[in-house]
Amino acid sequence: MNNQTPWLVYNCECRVFKHYVEWNVFRSKVRTRRNQICFDKVVCPQLIRSLGIFTANKNLAILDQFLQSRTAPTLDMVGQKDSILEELLPLKMTYGAIEGSDRLRTAIAALYDSATVKNVLVTHGAIGANSLVYQALVSPGDRVVTIVPTYQQHYSIPESLGADVHRLHLRPGNGYLPDLEELRRLVTPATKLIAFSNPNNPTGSLMERASLEEIVRIAASVGAYILSDEVYRGTTQEGDTLTESVADLYPRGISTGSMSKTFSLAGLRLGWICGPAEVLRAAEVHRDYNTISVGILDDVFSSVALENRDKILARSRSLVRRNLATLDRWMKSESALSYVKPRAGTISLLKYSFDTASRDFCVRLLDETGVLFTPGSAFEVEGTVRIGYANNHAILEEGLRQTSGFLRRLAS
Ligand SMILES: Cc1ncc(COP(=O)(O)O)c(C=O)c1O
Repeated sequence: MNNQTPWLVYNCECRVFKHYVEWNVFRSKVRTRRNQICFDKVVCPQLIRSLGIFTANKNLAILDQFLQSRTAPTLDMVGQKDSILEELLPLKMTYGAIEGSDRLRTAIAALYDSATVKNVLVTHGAIGANSLVYQALVSPGDRVVTIVPTYQQHYSIPESLGADVHRLHLRPGNGYLPDLEELRRLVTPATKLIAFSNPNNPTGSLMERASLEEIVRIAASVGAYILSDEVYRGTTQEGDTLTESVADLYPRGISTGSMSKTFSLAGLRLGWICGPAEVLRAAEVHRDYNTISVGILDDVFSSVALENRDKILARSRSLVRRNLATLDRWMKSESALSYVKPRAGTISLLKYSFDTASRDFCVRLLDETGVLFTPGSAFEVEGTVRIGYANNHAILEEGLRQTSGFLRRLAS
């Protein structure tokens, strides 16, 4: 924190207190400094009273207001907006359970058929989860096979660790599903890990049980681990159950997930690794150097959300299905664009027919219309852009309308 942050000037004004809570309690970044009060280990109501100027009631009202404004979307979704304060007030702002609370890990384990709390390690987002898996498993010279395009972590981190990374390219002709014969050729006895995102970022393709089982056979033939980044699991266009996780199909299968995508709660910054105990132990060694524990409030809100996952999943599915139907209608009307219709997720890769670099395309689109796509170059797939379509429906419609105008100008 720099000197501008409100916690250094907590002279007990309402506004400052609100900021104090925002910066320190909500984000669980309570720290001690010389000549300043240590709020660590203080129960919230005591903290409020210890500030001394407000009556407890007044302060509780402020805290209440704050919590309602910041957390209302989550709590609305799960129907606990009015009762959550009772759960939060007795919480001590300590580090909490180092590897994540039992309550949270139980709720995460319930997302898998065969996992128990012992298979779950809570992390700082899926980004933290992925990073820890690579740190735990990959050493210089190890062979890693990554199915691309995918989230950049899955090739850049192993490369940075000195691994010998081989890319298997997904192609639109195959519906952005991997050619498993090619995978078989790429996986050698030196292969430590096969990595992919499923559902796939950026294409929205989905590997189903039969493909996953085949990949498991390939991995098992050389004793390799599989890391499946499953942050979009549960956002399928069809069906109401969670699709298969590699963690349920293979003893060396590792699934990473988070609250960010399927559960629409990226602000909680909470993710997990679900995998074999030996991998979690190795990940914990690294985690002790960069995480300690996640925020206590993030842990509680994630527990509440996952315990009510059916309601959140129903909301997410109805949103992605309605919006993809809109996107699909629009795609059919735009002759300069083509795509493989996503089967899951919130994003899709659109191929365009103009002779323009994807970055230039996106910068010009943004400048002229305010619509933001991600250039395909960020995924090493030139001539494409990635659209995120899981936004407010009216905004999506307006964005598509603006993009149509832009495409007309580009064509003229
Ligand atoms: C495939 C994939 N994995 C991991 C992440 C990181 O997720 P989190 O916000 O949970 O750290 C993202 C975020 O965009 C993602 O798309």
